[in-house]
Amino acid sequence: MESGGNIMVLKYQFPEDFWWGSATSATQIEGTKDNDGKGKSIWDHWYEAEPNRFYQGVGPGVTSNFQDTYREDIKMIREIGHNTFRLSLSWSRLIPEGTGEVNRKAVDFYNDVIDELLANDIEPFINLFHFDMPMALQEIGGWENRETVDAYAEYAKTAFELFGDKVSKWFTFNEPIVPVEGGYLYDFHYPNKVDAKAAVQVAYHTTVASARAIEIFHQMDVNHGKIGIILNLTPSYPRSQNPADLKASEAADLFFNRSFLDPSVLGVYPDGLKEIVELHGIAPVTEAGDEALIRDNTVDILGVNYYQPRRVKAKEHVPNPDGPFLPDWYFDNYVMPGRKMNEYRGWEIYEKGIYDILINLKENYGNIESFISENGMGVQNESRFLKNGEIQDDYRIEFVKEHLKWVHKAHAEGANVLGYHMWTTMDNWSWSNAYKNRYGFISVDIETQERTIKKSGRWIRDVSRENGFDE
Ligand code: NOJ
Repeated sequence: MESGGNIMVLKYQFPEDFWWGSATSATQIEGTKDNDGKGKSIWDHWYEAEPNRFYQGVGPGVTSNFQDTYREDIKMIREIGHNTFRLSLSWSRLIPEGTGEVNRKAVDFYNDVIDELLANDIEPFINLFHFDMPMALQEIGGWENRETVDAYAEYAKTAFELFGDKVSKWFTFNEPIVPVEGGYLYDFHYPNKVDAKAAVQVAYHTTVASARAIEIFHQMDVNHGKIGIILNLTPSYPRSQNPADLKASEAADLFFNRSFLDPSVLGVYPDGLKEIVELHGIAPVTEAGDEALIRDNTVDILGVNYYQPRRVKAKEHVPNPDGPFLPDWYFDNYVMPGRKMNEYRGWEIYEKGIYDILINLKENYGNIESFISENGMGVQNESRFLKNGEIQDDYRIEFVKEHLKWVHKAHAEGANVLGYHMWTTMDNWSWSNAYKNRYGFISVDIETQERTIKKSGRWIRDVSRENGFDE
């Protein structure tokens, strides 16, 4: 700690009003009860249809049960020092059929949660869509069908009307590339298609839907607030500076980062991406006015989810031109030897990636306001680190701290980064991986529903109270 005048300055001192918090999503924390009036989402449906696709056969009905425990949970969230907290609304809880009637029980529930957060001096950040398409809309084609865009715009407007008087930070989508990859290219989300043309249409409609919500938000001037999108940005690093490796890395960046980043922040699609989709005959069906809608309704703020980099090399085998087109016709991923790995999860740990993203936003995306909306570490069998009644997750402290150092550096160099949220608050259910990997600041015993703050939870409390750390 250094003394700057009378004030003690920490080595990694963050700006005043920096957002400290963590992120969650409805399907992953709420739980479903028989009497809550919720409609089905694709997750409820997929689990009923194919329970064996879920780790240990555990579906979304069994979660950390926030629907019942939110009062106590919010007290704990305060205890670990958060000044902000992200949740998502479940569209199918609020509007069970996707369009039409609103479920009053859901309105009461979300109102209570928001009030409880505010009463505890925690600012709610609300995300409208976190992978959980209402099944009634999936039945008409989900994001492949333009009608879903209209339904989403209506849902967004309803949410702004219902909760906009209390909430001023809103997000249209979380990681919109994931349903595209999972549902339409690589078969890890419902509806499990492998169809690049459908994937492009889904991605395109998602962007149109986001622009529509932004337009409505700005017209309503919701709480004089800000609206953004949350993107998982995965910096692509080429194996070498050879033209073929560089080209492969650029293609991966176009598919997985710039496909949403450019239209969301700059209001236009990158030329390289347009060329690729035209070349393969998979360009989306558009409507007159879309171009202007996307151009004129860019985000106020960007949430950045960062977990790991992408190491890319030129494609070694020419793909079969008769097989279905996939983005990886253009590149190969590889594991870079000697890199630091999260041995509990198998992902590379590359802390500088977070800095590279923030500097890229500063230099190429108008230095848009941003925050780290997810970063974190999944760990299998985490109970093995239980000692004296507490999970000793020093590895997580180290992970967050090393990333924060790079965030601090980016900020010092002028990046417009306003906060840091970890994934996640309490251990929760993670899509088809269910409870395989634990991510929280707070551990949850799923059997007893008992919560215990982990060592990292105590650590982040101190960091957020002091607004930084020394070493
Ligand atoms: C990204 C997603 O937003 C979240 O739903 C997921 O569980 C975490 N990352 C961990 O993979």
